[in-house]
Amino acid sequence: MSNSSTRHTPGEPGNTLGELLRWASDLLADEDGSGRLDAEVLIGHVTGQPRHEPYIRPERTLPTSQGQRIEELVRRRAEGQPVAYLTGECEFWSLPLHVTPATLIPRPETELVVESALAHLPAGESLYIADLGTGSGAIALALASERPDWRVVATERCTAALEVARDNARRLDLANVAFHAGDWFEPLAGQRFDLIVSNPPYVRTGDPHLERGDLRFEPRTALASGVDGLDAIRRITASARQYLVPGGRLILEHGFDQGAPARDLLMALGYGDITTLRDLAGHERVAVCAWKR
Ligand SMILES: C[S@@+](CC[C@H](N)C(=O)[O-])C[C@H]1O[C@@H](n2cnc3c(N)ncnc32)[C@H](O)[C@@H]1O
Repeated sequence: MSNSSTRHTPGEPGNTLGELLRWASDLLADEDGSGRLDAEVLIGHVTGQPRHEPYIRPERTLPTSQGQRIEELVRRRAEGQPVAYLTGECEFWSLPLHVTPATLIPRPETELVVESALAHLPAGESLYIADLGTGSGAIALALASERPDWRVVATERCTAALEVARDNARRLDLANVAFHAGDWFEPLAGQRFDLIVSNPPYVRTGDPHLERGDLRFEPRTALASGVDGLDAIRRITASARQYLVPGGRLILEHGFDQGAPARDLLMALGYGDITTLRDLAGHERVAVCAWKR
């Protein structure tokens, strides 16, 4: 009698949950074991069941349409497409966000920007915050959800990304955030903020990482920023001085090796209280400073 581990034809996905999970895990197998997790996520996305369902009911037969959809997504994942683009979902700051290939997939290290903003500014006050290059809306939405008293305004040059951000705000029912299309500060002319945050593009043009992993599928304009990766950071830091109230804070994510150049830049521009925060991997990742004048 064949047991459940040999029932499906090798190379064929099968049509029970257990067979599909084995087939997908084999196809996506990699050194760090994330292939099995990807398989569980994609199956759960299509079936609408929790990730552990294939382990509890491996014998459950799926409708043909679901089996075909799982096969299609797993094959696209095997070609390298990011799981978040295949499911259209990504969690950031515990918020379920929609993402599309027009938006960066929010990264866990960007939560450091949110954490730092919440730590540096008082709760319970009506503060005005700007998020530049908002993408899916990740940082703006996290701050708006944590601080209902704050008003958050976010800008983004890519109108397709902006639509995703607006849709995320609607689905999360966050009314204290607004989105504007345009180049960095351009839609915010004449305004002053208590806090400006940004996770701008900061990868060097020509960096080989742009040709690897998820980055291959993400918008190049969300990632790359000039030969040293600092073009966007230079523009934002130079302009932010006119847009901060006296004592206002600027919090910026940067590359793992850009801590020192970012600090030098901020110092040269006259910012004070300059500090750098490290991410969970121990890399310098976020610059925090204040505009004292
Ligand atoms: C690294 S992504 C960050 C997205 C989002 N804030 C996040 O953390 O997931 C940078 C974003 O800046 C946007 N961007 C690039 N250049 C811009 C510009 N000149 N003005 C406004 N937004 C810009 C990109 O379209 C992209 O959405």
